[in-house]
Amino acid sequence: YKRVTVKTLVDMKANGEKISMLTAYDYTMAKIVDGAGVDVILVGDSASNVMAGHETTLPITLDQMIYHASSVIRAIDRALIVVDLPFGSYQSDPKEALRSAIRIMKESGAHSVKMEGGREIKESIKRILAAGIPVMGHLGLTPQSIYKFGTYTVRAKEEQEAVDLIKDAKMLERVGCFAIVLEKIPAALAKQVAESVSIPIIGIGAGNGVDGQVLVLHDMLGMTHEFHPRFLRRYMNLYEDMTSAISQYVDDVKTRDFPNDNEQY
Ligand code: KIV
Ligand code: NA
Repeated sequence: YKRVTVKTLVDMKANGEKISMLTAYDYTMAKIVDGAGVDVILVGDSASNVMAGHETTLPITLDQMIYHASSVIRAIDRALIVVDLPFGSYQSDPKEALRSAIRIMKESGAHSVKMEGGREIKESIKRILAAGIPVMGHLGLTPQSIYKFGTYTVRAKEEQEAVDLIKDAKMLERVGCFAIVLEKIPAALAKQVAESVSIPIIGIGAGNGVDGQVLVLHDMLGMTHEFHPRFLRRYMNLYEDMTSAISQYVDDVKTRDFPNDNEQY
């Protein structure tokens, strides 16, 4: 595919081709992620944790999300860009939600938005979709409502929660969402959801029976060494590699090894 669109993703599910998705928050990283062939880049509100060092995703603002999204947009040639609507920018009413989504689209040049929740935000999702803005849903563990649950443990293990989640997924498909992220739910339930809707289900900690996978870039690169949930596969140990590179630099400066004769004018 030349350029990935929301239509491409639905076709990929229909053709049984898995969808790869990763987060990015800045130009340099996004350029690498896009160049490596990732289908979807999520400018996640996980920027609140990874970029800003907050404990939760709640503090990040709409202006800050737009800053991250516009940096990512300048880097990409192929990937579809999804931007999280941050906490507080869409929960109060559909008009506010639409205003926030429009700001993201206009001020960053993003291709779509993602919103956490099901029936509670149905009217807001419909309003945004009616304006022609593609919406990705997000069910299961929804970090913006962490204080309602108190923990980041696996969701929808109880029967009623599972039934409600399937209903919400079907509703999101019915109103016109182009895909849904399912975070940290049992693999069997995620598989069941993926089989009950025709839009792609992208999992994180949701097993292998879904239509695609997403990870936080800094986690899969091994930069966040103190974070090790079961679902995370680390493809590098960048924390260690960067630490040794940087301490080598410090050493080279102290010992007057850097710069050498070829590294000066
Ligand atoms: O913000 C984020 O990184 C996310 C993914 C974990 C799905 O929402
Ligand atoms: Na998010």
